[in-house]
Amino acid sequence: MLELAGVSTRYGAITMLRDVSLEVAPGRIACLLGPNGAGKTTLIRTILGIVTPVAGEIRFEGQRLDRLRTHQIVERGIGVVPEGRRVFPRMTVEENLRMGAFVEWTPADLGERLDRVFALFPRLAERRGQRAATMSGGEQAMLAVGRALMGRPRLLLLDEPSLGLAPVLVEQLFAMVQTINRSGTTVFLVEQNARKTLEIAHHGFLIQKGEIVGRGSAAELAASEIVRHAYLRA
Ligand SMILES: Nc1ncnc2c1ncn2[C@@H]1O[C@H](COP(=O)(O)OP(=O)(O)OP(=O)(O)O)[C@@H](O)[C@H]1O
Ligand SMILES: [Mg+2]
Repeated sequence: MLELAGVSTRYGAITMLRDVSLEVAPGRIACLLGPNGAGKTTLIRTILGIVTPVAGEIRFEGQRLDRLRTHQIVERGIGVVPEGRRVFPRMTVEENLRMGAFVEWTPADLGERLDRVFALFPRLAERRGQRAATMSGGEQAMLAVGRALMGRPRLLLLDEPSLGLAPVLVEQLFAMVQTINRSGTTVFLVEQNARKTLEIAHHGFLIQKGEIVGRGSAAELAASEIVRHAYLRA
């Protein structure tokens, strides 16, 4: 569904992604695991056209994405939960969700999409008038996911959604990601929490210093030496 072939990205003179090739299979949960500074967020930003690759091709459902503008990429059916969640702190829950709207939607369409997100996250419905800044970390994570779902993406990108959440909230969040996936949304999950991620992912990739150093099914990754040593020691 999503395919990167030989993608390289530079910040000035420094190469941040080197010859990255990976595929996200339709209907699946794919993961990208890697340590701090490996280039995970850079990869997400490259897919979204925020960073322009210096080499390679990115395809979504067979069509080139690279060189499109970010809004065009999102409109093709890609939703994102950015690193740090980036909810708008002074806005209410409902206003945050409305920020996930596209300009061409009718008010009726917008209302229907809000209702769907509230049905999926009853907690957000209860708190629709609450300011995002006063929501708990777990609630803010749900809000960021809900905002990304407003566009009914066929592919959902999540950049370290579990960061800073207590284990029970990570469980809930990942269960929600599974529910979203089972309802037909393909997921690309970027994480450092390898253990939990490999419990829900179908397949994935390892990135280190801007290069893909491992790939395979979740079971293969969990069994690989590199993952066991670098990520599953705890
Ligand atoms: N705009 C930028 N200009 C220059 N260097 C950058 C820029 N953004 C990121 N980098 C560098 O690129 C490298 C990869 O950063 P990136 O944010 O992609 O890592 P990451 O894998 O997402 O890490 P983390 O797990 O900490 O979020 C880092 O060394 C970072 O300092
Ligand atoms: Mg990051």
